Amino acid sequence: MRMTHLFNDNWIFSQGFEEASKTVSAKGETVRLPHNALDLPFNYFDETSYQRPFTYQKILAFQPEFEGREVSIVFDGAMADAEVFLNGEAVIAHKDGYTPFEARLTGRLKAGDNLITVRIDGSENPGIPPFGGRIDYLTYAGIYRDAWLKVTTPVSVGSIKVETQDTLSDKKGVTVRVDLANPAAVALGGQLKVALKDGDRVIATQTADVADHRHTFTFAGLEGLSLWEPDHPALYKAEVTLESGAGSDSQTATFGFRTAEFTVEGFKLNGKVLKIRGLNRHQAFPYTGYAMGKRAQERDAEIVKNDLKCNLVRTSHYPQSPWFLDHCDRIGLLVFEEIPGWQHIGDKEWQAESVRNVERMITRDWNHPSIILWGVRINESQDNHDFYAETNRVARETDATRQTGGVRFITESEFLEDVYTMNDFYLGSEEMPGANHARTPLRDQQACTGLPTKVPYMVTEFNGHMYPTKRHDQEARQAEHVTRHLQVLNAMYGDPSISGAIGWCAFDYNTHKDFGSGDRICHHGVMDMFREPKFAAYAYASQCTPEEEIILKPVTFWARGERNIGGIMPLIVLTNCDEVEFVYGSHLRKRVGPDRESYPHLPHPPVVIDRRHFSAEELGSWGMAWLDGEVIGYRNGEAVARVKMSGGPLPTHLQVVADDETLPAATKDQVRVIVRALDQTGNLLPFLDEPVTVTVTGPAKLLGPSNPVLTGGATGFWLESTGEVGPVEVTVSSARFETRTLALSAV
Ligand code: GAL
Repeated sequence: MRMTHLFNDNWIFSQGFEEASKTVSAKGETVRLPHNALDLPFNYFDETSYQRPFTYQKILAFQPEFEGREVSIVFDGAMADAEVFLNGEAVIAHKDGYTPFEARLTGRLKAGDNLITVRIDGSENPGIPPFGGRIDYLTYAGIYRDAWLKVTTPVSVGSIKVETQDTLSDKKGVTVRVDLANPAAVALGGQLKVALKDGDRVIATQTADVADHRHTFTFAGLEGLSLWEPDHPALYKAEVTLESGAGSDSQTATFGFRTAEFTVEGFKLNGKVLKIRGLNRHQAFPYTGYAMGKRAQERDAEIVKNDLKCNLVRTSHYPQSPWFLDHCDRIGLLVFEEIPGWQHIGDKEWQAESVRNVERMITRDWNHPSIILWGVRINESQDNHDFYAETNRVARETDATRQTGGVRFITESEFLEDVYTMNDFYLGSEEMPGANHARTPLRDQQACTGLPTKVPYMVTEFNGHMYPTKRHDQEARQAEHVTRHLQVLNAMYGDPSISGAIGWCAFDYNTHKDFGSGDRICHHGVMDMFREPKFAAYAYASQCTPEEEIILKPVTFWARGERNIGGIMPLIVLTNCDEVEFVYGSHLRKRVGPDRESYPHLPHPPVVIDRRHFSAEELGSWGMAWLDGEVIGYRNGEAVARVKMSGGPLPTHLQVVADDETLPAATKDQVRVIVRALDQTGNLLPFLDEPVTVTVTGPAKLLGPSNPVLTGGATGFWLESTGEVGPVEVTVSSARFETRTLALSAV
């Protein structure tokens, strides 16, 4: 049988390039993968600090199982320009920081200990995409994904591509194309077996005598199978086994039955129009950058789907963690995946590497039902006919089942893809010097494409730098932030030729000095870097059906004097309720319905309460008492949700919540904890910026400072497993609140 073991532990990590010699660096530190070469402060760091070389070394003792078999180490991702050496001799080099590579050790291992050395270069080598120009994100450095030790029979199952046919019919078809790996070029033989499975239940099997390196198995008339749908993402498996004189080898591919097509009438999933409501995601986290484990990756997908209620995530601007994509399959979150890059196109060799990135991304990810579109342009680059004709050709040749897109911000760009994917940052541009157009949420697609007819079209970014907003920014600014997201979503919903819109972006992210607020953060998220929501998060969340979840979020800190001139009007209530009752003190009470006039196309327009509903006198003015308030959400005449707001908020409760009660110990993984200062009604105290002290006992490590400062009333951190199992206790104390203790366990 194949052996695939995590190869993450006991790496010796050192600064600079160690001689790729036969000895382990004496200056090294023992680390576990995924590993970030240099942790950064939350903000205000020098991003050039990690832009230099590092070395990882590890001893691999020869094992009897290696005898007569293929032995390799698979790296899921290393940033960047990695070179692997075995006992001082070069084995493989891999430039791209986002795709996997395999170091073949077969025939080169000696008895006893063998030294594996991996040199990585965190510098922004202009020869490698995305580097060469400026980029609005950090790439960090390190072997930041998992590594695996893989031992197989000399001929093994190399890659599996599953395609479905007659997908929407009751009798479905599947083809499973198997490519055998035979690096030693030995004689082929034996038998290949493919089993299609639903969990443990075998649906169908086929066998074939091995005659070639490629075999395609065709199944037809499969009954009783479910479609992969966002709310019911049914997954199946194709288990491929090779039995030969040398033993057996097997690999499993997960797949789903679904059709996905961008058309001039919008995006169709399984033949039905589905409006795409998405957000962009960077795979970056505070302090540790990209180096986060399986659970942390999965949690991000859950946040986008379950908290933000989006149906799609764009992996801006590179192939993201396999754990993240696997989870998108499991939870039913659509994905638009793209190659690494940001505006800059390098020379011919750089472009050739980018074309290879297209192939590597697609071959890594072609079985994911969640992925519905390949991005084959450098994000926001200029046209380049030959380069993009080639990326499109390679994408179509490698995977004919998906369309291509290529994200641009230029209008009338040469349309070589199947879907015109456009960053439409028009909203806000009316404020630019010299502009003389009215405020327009989205342009008509033909104004962007310049084409004589409509084409499949999707908006892939909006807002972002046009209106950066911090979670603790002034209320009026946040109301405007919310409004802009709503206006674009409304325009998208109103235009059947727009397949969907993907906002910039889900989470704030660390960036270079040339972008963001000078603090090395782009505050462009609808959530902050801890994934704590800003009000704009609820612009998305409130578009879900009330059956899924009732959302009721008044866009206010509820204070007499937070806004200019005072008061809280107009008050936007983000909700999917039929109507909202607004209560102020004991004398004012009024029910208000959704603002369909301003947002006729949104599934759930917000309720906007303003002077149309109350006179200025009724709410009083500067110098008058400020009273308690409440908003009550109604559905079918019944009160289904309430938010109370105190006219005199005081620090009352420190809320400490962990995403999970358990922390995976066998792998290096992380669980997020959020700390919130709440008032007597349970609302966040938005300007309570005080330190808290975090202590962790048991087998877990705190990522980030032990004295974080609540910013805008909240902060967060991740707990990272250390390898042992046992109880973990987290204590958060502060001057103003009772100490909170959380009990978790590393399992
Ligand atoms: C876009 C770019 C994104 C991000 C965004 C900020 O131009 O594609 O990566 O920089 O602007 O709004």
